[in-house]
Order: sequence, then structure tokens, then C-alpha cells
Amino acid sequence: MNIVWNKTSEQFHLYNDRLSYIIGVAPSGELANLYFGKRIHDRADFSYVLFRMGMPNVVVDADTESYSMELNCQEYPSFGTTDFGAQAFEVEMANGSRISNFVYKSHRISQGKKEIKGLPATYADKTEAMTLEVTLADTLAGMELVLYYTIFEGYPVVARHAKFKNVGNSKVKLTRALSACLDFPDQNYEWMQFSGAWARERIPEIKKLSTGVTYIDSRRGASSANQNPFVILKRPGTDDFMGEAIGFSFVYSGNFIALADGSTHGRLRFVMGINPDRFCWPLEKDECFETPEVVIAMTDRGLNDLSQTYHKLYNNHLVRGKWKNTPRPILNNNWEATYMDFTEESILKIASKAKDAGIELFVLDDGWFGERNDDFAGLGDWVENPKKLPQGMAGLSRKINALGLKFGFWIEPEMVNPNSNLYRRHPDWVLSVPGRKSSLGRHQLVLDFSREEVVDYIYGMLHKVIKGSKIDYIKWDMNRALTEVFSVDTPAERQGMVAHKYVLGVYSLYSRLIKAFPDILFESCSSGGNRFDAGMLYYAPQAWCSDNSDAIDRIRIQYGTSFGYPIVSIGSHVSAVPNQQTGRTTPLDIRANVAYFGTFGYELDLNEISDEEFELVKKQVEFMKENRALIQFGDFYRLRSPFENDQAAWMVVSEDKKKAVVGFYCLRSNVNALPGFLKLAGLDPDKEYRMEGKTYYGDELMNMGITLSEFYDRGFTISKDYDSFVTIIEEV
Ligand code: DGJ
Repeated sequence: MNIVWNKTSEQFHLYNDRLSYIIGVAPSGELANLYFGKRIHDRADFSYVLFRMGMPNVVVDADTESYSMELNCQEYPSFGTTDFGAQAFEVEMANGSRISNFVYKSHRISQGKKEIKGLPATYADKTEAMTLEVTLADTLAGMELVLYYTIFEGYPVVARHAKFKNVGNSKVKLTRALSACLDFPDQNYEWMQFSGAWARERIPEIKKLSTGVTYIDSRRGASSANQNPFVILKRPGTDDFMGEAIGFSFVYSGNFIALADGSTHGRLRFVMGINPDRFCWPLEKDECFETPEVVIAMTDRGLNDLSQTYHKLYNNHLVRGKWKNTPRPILNNNWEATYMDFTEESILKIASKAKDAGIELFVLDDGWFGERNDDFAGLGDWVENPKKLPQGMAGLSRKINALGLKFGFWIEPEMVNPNSNLYRRHPDWVLSVPGRKSSLGRHQLVLDFSREEVVDYIYGMLHKVIKGSKIDYIKWDMNRALTEVFSVDTPAERQGMVAHKYVLGVYSLYSRLIKAFPDILFESCSSGGNRFDAGMLYYAPQAWCSDNSDAIDRIRIQYGTSFGYPIVSIGSHVSAVPNQQTGRTTPLDIRANVAYFGTFGYELDLNEISDEEFELVKKQVEFMKENRALIQFGDFYRLRSPFENDQAAWMVVSEDKKKAVVGFYCLRSNVNALPGFLKLAGLDPDKEYRMEGKTYYGDELMNMGITLSEFYDRGFTISKDYDSFVTIIEEV
């Protein structure tokens, strides 16, 4: 890993074993992108890649130097001089002009990586990464812009973000401040996005790029289930096992855009950042605005390799604290078992059975506070309901601990029901436009987390409940989109800040709670997977992946999620049948075989299942305890896609390649079909492995594959709906 500055050519070359990123000061003084891709040799001057054709509009006009931004790859372009593509930023000056010209001023190369104040970001120490900060200045605007690039040792990754500073005397407004732009010399790419809605999150969609704009965004206040802030650009033909691809993961949990713009000259631009729609950030003298970070990863070895890069980077350089690289407790959550209709006694009955099954953590979901007996009341009143918890959270936690279980509970701190004491006392504490109707979502309003006093108040209430009990885990939910985004406490010209300041408020509450209770395991949730993003993982190292707990739908949802997020971050539970979201009845086997590939737990009352099933649950819990470290932190391979087949398969391999766990699932029966082969991946071709009592070489398992008929002896067959198996492969 290194960052080289060539003073004569004014070029930077960031490289490690796998990638090169080359940036130069262009004839215009702005930064041009000279190369991004597989590692290449360094040279003193790469400016031969710049086109100096006088044909179009030129920003530098000289016989030898004609230079148009439009024809060359830019690093962080603005609109209005000679670049006509999607812009990375826009500054509105005091006189109304939006033309800017940020030219190279200075740079700094350092070891390690600095924090981004108030925002989640990847981190690294001095041996793990190097950072380049390039300062650009627009003297007429009185502004400075710093572009940050961090290259990591051992990862084909560059993390980018930008910082604006008003160093002049007049006020300016940032009307667009994206985090990164990457221009490519050609547009022969496919765009892969992860879209969906409640209960069907992160379903991959692929489209071929050409000229014009391809674009996804969120304007819902949260990153959203509808479009995930993670996009892959891949060469046609790239699949899980081979080919080139570049991933863009936004470390942010609010409104965003990801946009590809194919120019009619054949170039491609990709930009990502905070959604500029309704965004406006005024900067007074000496004020700064720092964007969140985009993590750019590349591969020339297929999408499994790209996903593994994100899994490892996020496990080692994003997740923090006690739960970093720590196997997660197996939990029982009461939501689908009781909804809000419970008593302390009924909860203890469920918990006690969970303990008998070997489960480690009990989670009390929604309904324990205020007048919360249904969706219509109570949010905002974070005080125990004495009818349900006669001795409060402290009493219940003591009793659960006495059973030998850890204990955690559910909160939804960003919300308030109109029917709550909090709302009655502070009706102006919600996002709403005076004089207009406020839209409800699940009968609730959104607290104005752009205001410090609101965050302070919620912190105080939650701190009290947590402090008084022994709490090991918290599930932080968020169950509606932001609408009527307006803060009564904010002057008119600063309303464009509110959506981002709301997200900063959420991050600050997380930070304060984590600081006060560093050992608590936080699980984020947003009606399931409505805010499953890299920003959240910085605070909450796991996320409830979807409210859809049906095993068959979960195969697709977890498969899609695995492209950008670590397996250990995927909240996955076994629930009762018929499934409460889909009505489907699946065997207990497949429900666990799917849920193993995540955090694992149960979302049901184990008193309600048969003795025979309970014995099976005990075995499942035992299996997960034995294998969770490998499953949650090993190298994950997607083997067969549920979007292209009636079956799906995936596997996890240990770093030393001595052990692997394979999961295979029939989404529907294939009657009278040959069982066929499943080719494995990631093993050592020369090692001999044992699987189901027989031995095979790694190369046999990966190239010839395993015959699925090997599993017919255990009763498995591909001609049965919802049949599945999980098998262990171990070095002999
Ligand atoms: C939505 C979550 O996704 C569920 O798991 C549950 O916690 C409910 N909210 C509670 O209201």
C-alpha cells in the first residue's frame, strides 16, 4: 500500500496489491481521474490519458493545451463550465451564481484514517491504511474543498468523502454535496441495484447501462427498503465466480442518490451521496460541511470476491466495540409470539422454555411502556407499564437473568404517538409544517431529531430505563418514513438542513447510548430492513433483515443482502407456521437451515410446538453454537441463485480452508428431475475433506461438484417443496 505524489506531473497514485487509483491536476487546475482499476505499475506521468481536443467547449484554450472537462474523466465535477454530466456538487454564491472553479492548492498524505465528526465511517490505524487529502480552492467564492481518499492494506478498497469550508466573507449555500464521483472511459457496464419494499427487501436487479441516466434514490428520510444505498457496476458476464465489478456502498442512513450518467461521447460517470433534493446547507464564514463516506471496492474475480471484501472490511473496519468479530448470542424474541398482548408471567413462560432449548438471550419486543397496548398509543413514553411489568424492567431483567438468560428490549426512540404524554406536552417536537396536516405512519409521528433538546430528552428517558436494569441487548426500531420534513425551531433559510440534521441526531443518540453502555449489543431495525445500511452497522453491528420471517422468502432476502453486508449483520430467526406474513407452512428444518446464515434466533413461543419439534430445536441451537463463529465470520460464497433457479445454495469456508458449512434449499419441487450436482467453492483443491462420512478432494468438490443424491439417504430430495439440508465439510 502506498500513495505516491509526483510533483512534476502533479499526479497521485494510490495503490495496494490489488488496485491502482490515479489522479492528476488537470490543465484547468481541477482534479482529473486518470485511472481506477486493477493494480498497474507506477510511472512519472500518466497525462497521456487526457484528451486535448479543441472540438467541443474548452475550459483551457491554447493550441497545445485545449482541455475540455466533458471529454475527460473528472474527480469531483461541478456543472456550468465545460462539464455537462451529473455534478458532484453545487455551490450557490451570494450573487446567485452557481459556477465554481476549485483548483489544486495543496495536499497531505498520512498514515491511517481520521474520523468524520458526527458521522459513521470506516476506521484504520497507521499500519492498516493511508489517506490522501487534497485541498482545492475557489478564491472568487472564498471556499476550500478537501477531497479525502483512504486506501486500505489488503483490501481492494478506496473510501472517499469531501469537506467544504467557507473561508471567505460572504455567505454561500451548498445545494448539492455528494460524497464521491468515479468517471470511467467506457460504459460497457451493467448496473446492479438492491430494491424492494417492506417484507421483500434487497432484491437484486440488473440493467445494462448506455447513454443517459440510471438512478436510484431515497427521499424517505431513511436509506429505505425500496432502494438500498449499495450499487454494483459490473462488466457484462461477470457473475459470482468471475469477472470485473466495482461496488459503491454509502456509509449513511438517510436520503441518498446513486446515479450513473452515460455521456454521448461514450464515457460513464457514477456519483453517490446525500440526496440533493430539498437539501440546502448554508455556510457562514469559517463554517464547514463534511459529507458521509462512500466505500468503493473493486474485483476482477467475481461478485463473491467483491462481497467478501465488504464483509471483511465492515467486520474489521466499521463495526466497533465488544461485538466486533464476536459470535452473536442466540436469542428468542416474543414479537410474533405475543405481539403487544403479554404479561410478565407469559413472558417468563416463553423465556423459561427458551432457556431449556439452550437459547442465550431473551428479547422483550414492543408493548412494555406507557399505554402501548396497540399501535395507536404510547410511543414517546419510555416508562414501564406497571400492568405488564409490575416490577419494571429491572424486575423482569432480574427474573430473566435468574433463569440463566441474558436480557434485552425493544425501543423506537425517534417516534411519538399523538396519543402519548410526550406529544401532549410537546406537540411542537415533531417534524411538521405549521398549519398543515401531518401524515401519520403506523399511527405515529416523527420526532424532530434535528433538535438537540429532543434528542437529549429521549436520551434521558432511555438512559433511566437501561441504567436501572441489567441490559445486554437493544433492538432499535424505526417504523415509518419522514414526511412534512420541517422543523419549527429552524429559520426558513436553514430548512434544507433538517433531513440531514435528523440523521445526525439519530447518530448522536446512538453514540451517547453506546458511550454510556458500551457492552450492549444493538440491533437496528426499521419495519424489518428499511434502514439496513453501512451507516447503521457502525453503531448497531446487526440489523433485523426483514419483517418477512418466511424461510422461502428469506432465502431471497438474505441472498440479496449478502452482496453488500456481512453474514453476521443479518438478523434471522425461526418463526412459527403458518408464517404470519405469507401464510406458508414450511418444515422446521428449512426455517433453521436458512436462519443459521445470520445472527440466528427464534421468533416464536417454544411452548407452542410439539415435543418432537422441541427436541429438534435443541439440536438446532447446539448446531449453531458449534458453528456460529465459522458461519458468521467465514468466507461466504453464493453458489446457486434463488432468482434464477428453483433451488438456492450458499456456503461458508473457514479462513484456513479446513472447514465449511453448506446450505442447500428447494424453493419448489422439481419432480422427476435428475438430482444434479452442486459445485462448491473456496476450498483447498489439494486438501482431502470428509462430507457425510465420505472423503473427497477439494478439487473434486469444486470442479465435479457434489451429487445431490448423496443426501437422498437422509430423506432429502429435490422433488419436495421446501426440502433443504445443511452439511459440514471438514479436512480429513
Ligand atoms: C417492526 C419490527 O420489524 C418488528 O420486528 C417488531 O419489532 C415491530 N416493529 C414492533 O412494533
